[in-house]
Amino acid sequence: MVESVKVRAPCSTANLGPGFDVFGLALDAYHDEIQLRKKGEGITIESSDHIPLQPAKNSAGLVIKEMTKKFRIKSGISMKIKKGVPAGFGMGSSAASAAAAAVAFNSLFELDLDQNSLVQFAGLGEKASAGSIHYDNVAASIFGGFVIVRKNPLDVISIDPPKDLVLCIAIPKITVPHKKTQVSRSVLPQQIKLSDHVSNLANASAITAGFMKKDVNLIGHSIKDIIVEPARKHLIPGFDKVKANALAAGAFGVTISGAGPSIIAFTSKSTDPKKICKAMEMGFSFSKTECTAVVCKPSKGATII
Ligand code: HSE
Repeated sequence: MVESVKVRAPCSTANLGPGFDVFGLALDAYHDEIQLRKKGEGITIESSDHIPLQPAKNSAGLVIKEMTKKFRIKSGISMKIKKGVPAGFGMGSSAASAAAAAVAFNSLFELDLDQNSLVQFAGLGEKASAGSIHYDNVAASIFGGFVIVRKNPLDVISIDPPKDLVLCIAIPKITVPHKKTQVSRSVLPQQIKLSDHVSNLANASAITAGFMKKDVNLIGHSIKDIIVEPARKHLIPGFDKVKANALAAGAFGVTISGAGPSIIAFTSKSTDPKKICKAMEMGFSFSKTECTAVVCKPSKGATII
């Protein structure tokens, strides 16, 4: 009988420009680790990171709470959380913990759930931080690689990214609001022009084709979003300058990572990603904002370690 399981889940970027709430890509820049153990009574959370320890306020805790109820688990559960993904910066931090929790629970209680069901449970964890459920980050953290999420019923399509796809992420050192995703969703338009929808749909389709054809140029040059990015970029100091600098340094496409404030550039091994990172740092420095810029690659999904 399994008594303890440890799972590592990667961070992710959501939207990839025009694929708002639909596209996700797992990244190898950072990961979270969750260890679940059958122990005592109820659910207890331990962590040396600065995160809520009440199950109902923690994305991983919420997942365990819901799964315990759904599968009528009698045993107590102790959970250890080790955060590696910076929280609140648009890199799927809450989703990485939620994904790791769902995968660990499935293994600990030998439930044999399919990946779509794991995404469904992990999505419940997003409610703790985002206020609403969206599956793009959790799907990427569970499946790995590039994912397309359809809802009602939930169905995730996963595609292996091209081997030469490289990402540069610039994470600004700014104070993010409490419930940041909720805040950055509140600035989005409720109605959009049909011609804007057509433009975003064309680019989103081209991104999917780019992943299918393993064509990094096509992916990068289709990272163009004229609906969500213009509404959110004002929340990020110096966004236009960072984007322009990254493009001038050889990036194929640049946009907000998830709900921000990190900015992500898409490029290939054939360019100089470190130069793009430097250019992004310079861009932020124009608005007196420090940032950490990292080069990363697509990642595999959550794994038992
Ligand atoms: N698709 C979500 C959003 C991702 O952009 O609000 C949040 O990380």
